[in-house]
Amino acid sequence: MCGIVGYVGKERCVEVLMEGLRNLEYRGYDSAGLALAMPERGIETTKEVGPLDNLAGAIGEKYDDFFKVRVGVGHTRWATHGRPSEANAHPHTGGGAPAGGPEVAVVHNGIIENHAELREELRERGFEFRSETDTEVIAHLLAERVAAGEPLREALVGTLKRLQGSFAVAVMSAEEPGTIVAARHQSPLVVGLGEGENFLASAVQALLGNTRRFLFVENGEIAVLTDSSVEIQTLYGQPVERETFEVDWSAEELGLNGYEDFMLKEIHEQPAALQATLAGRLDTDGVVDLSELDFDFSGIERIVVVACGTAYHAGLLGKYAIERLARLPVEVAVASEYRYADPIGDESTLVVAISQSGETTDTLAAVEASRGFGARVLAVTNTQGSLLTREAEAVLLTKAGPEVGVAATKTFLTQVAALYLLALELAGRRGGLSGEQLSDVGCGLRRSPEKVEEALGLLEGRVGEAVGVFAGARCALFLGRGHLFPVALEGALKLKEISYLPAEGYPAGEMKHGPIALVDEQCPVVAVLGEGTLREKTLSNVEETVARGARVIAIAREDDAAAARVAQVTLPVPEMPEILSPLVSTVPLQLLAYHVAKARGLNVDKPRNLAKSVTVE
Ligand code: F6R
Repeated sequence: MCGIVGYVGKERCVEVLMEGLRNLEYRGYDSAGLALAMPERGIETTKEVGPLDNLAGAIGEKYDDFFKVRVGVGHTRWATHGRPSEANAHPHTGGGAPAGGPEVAVVHNGIIENHAELREELRERGFEFRSETDTEVIAHLLAERVAAGEPLREALVGTLKRLQGSFAVAVMSAEEPGTIVAARHQSPLVVGLGEGENFLASAVQALLGNTRRFLFVENGEIAVLTDSSVEIQTLYGQPVERETFEVDWSAEELGLNGYEDFMLKEIHEQPAALQATLAGRLDTDGVVDLSELDFDFSGIERIVVVACGTAYHAGLLGKYAIERLARLPVEVAVASEYRYADPIGDESTLVVAISQSGETTDTLAAVEASRGFGARVLAVTNTQGSLLTREAEAVLLTKAGPEVGVAATKTFLTQVAALYLLALELAGRRGGLSGEQLSDVGCGLRRSPEKVEEALGLLEGRVGEAVGVFAGARCALFLGRGHLFPVALEGALKLKEISYLPAEGYPAGEMKHGPIALVDEQCPVVAVLGEGTLREKTLSNVEETVARGARVIAIAREDDAAAARVAQVTLPVPEMPEILSPLVSTVPLQLLAYHVAKARGLNVDKPRNLAKSVTVE
């Protein structure tokens, strides 16, 4: 939540900062701003409410010399303290006129928990506040120290020692115009390395057009950037040697490549994302090889999956597969609950933390909570070098490439595929199923990229009719059973987050215990029937909704006559081994949510109130 970016180097600062913010807009889009070291004029800020284009327009109008700027910081905001407004937009400044002393500018991602006390204290010392944000206290504390003659790095160290909470900050001072100082505690920060220029950002995506070489800044570290140097130290002044990290994502992957929206592009990238995630981990006989993890799986008696949102739904599918194939008990916990649950476990517990971004605060905290009982931790993430990768003993990387749309799509399918690999690995070690049975599942998994491709083909031109069922809808009910229940949950989440229609995902058999009261002509039922043992049961539950006036969209095989009988529209999925069928059954639900939202004229890539990485509690 919130993205920060910084640049020091050549006369292309504004271009780099704006491109960086554009690639970080998924982290928040309530407002955006830049602080620039203007040659001979000092620090100047420009801030605008709303999408980045507003800021770009304002910069263009305000300056005809912005191409001369060499140093600056930028911010894109997801509001925590104070509504989205120009006053609350970052960067925040301190010092300068009328406060006196050199002007400083601050961009911040995180939450300062003791901001109210600090605000009071600063007010008593005569500081005037211009915003309702927690961040502004940083600007004044910093300005006070700079005015007292402290160099920027020392002033920031002194300021940070007063703060409680989480932060990644980048600051600049009129006194040291060729320098940016940045630090982090709990919120992400990377430094990008260039020739005669250096960069910083909340995430590598921001800088891929400029560099692929990065240094990760760890908790409690401070980085000082000039055009020719990057120095990292601890807050206690010890120098840090950090190895350069090269990422294999490219700037091209961040483009729309002819698609109207990132979400649609990412739905269509799913076959390739699955292919990349499975490559090298599953041989032609369907035998899994996770030796790359170099992880000790021996003695594991129980698994706890911790995750949030869509990743939690992937975890539920992981539970189903691990319990079925490996006969190991799995608990799936919402990370924001688990972290405070005083969780129970011991060294035989494997904690699997799933997070696309690898930086979700609650998921990281849940991992920390599990350390209390000595858990071994395996991370499933899409983001190389993310915070989660540094907290886990081993990392099973999903290789979906960067996901820009706020609604997770390709990262969900690859998380599910990664969990199937894990289930097969554990099953192989525990020996409950025969090699042949496991190899059947493995071979099915190997074919999943082509099956998802087939699903996309079958659905081409078919979703419009289903969107018609949603005309005048005031809510929706998504039903599934067994392994298709998490698919129903995911379908409901996709619909509500991008179309703003209330939607419930429910186990079909539980529907009569309450939610059936919702059912009428304005509450379509989306029935994830699939095939297999529970299909008949789900079908009879759907019949019960039809008897009460529901209009039904069935996710089923094209030739499923019973589905065709109960449903207004069938969204077809190809044949797939039962346990793996969530991989294909999810696709029509993603497309349904997408097209319903488009029909309502909404921005599917940037739904209101949301941010892609939830880095605050
Ligand atoms: C929904 C969505 C969110 C995320 C959740 C966890 O489409 O994207 O529910 O799944 O915020 O994010 P990560 O996976 O980054 O931990």
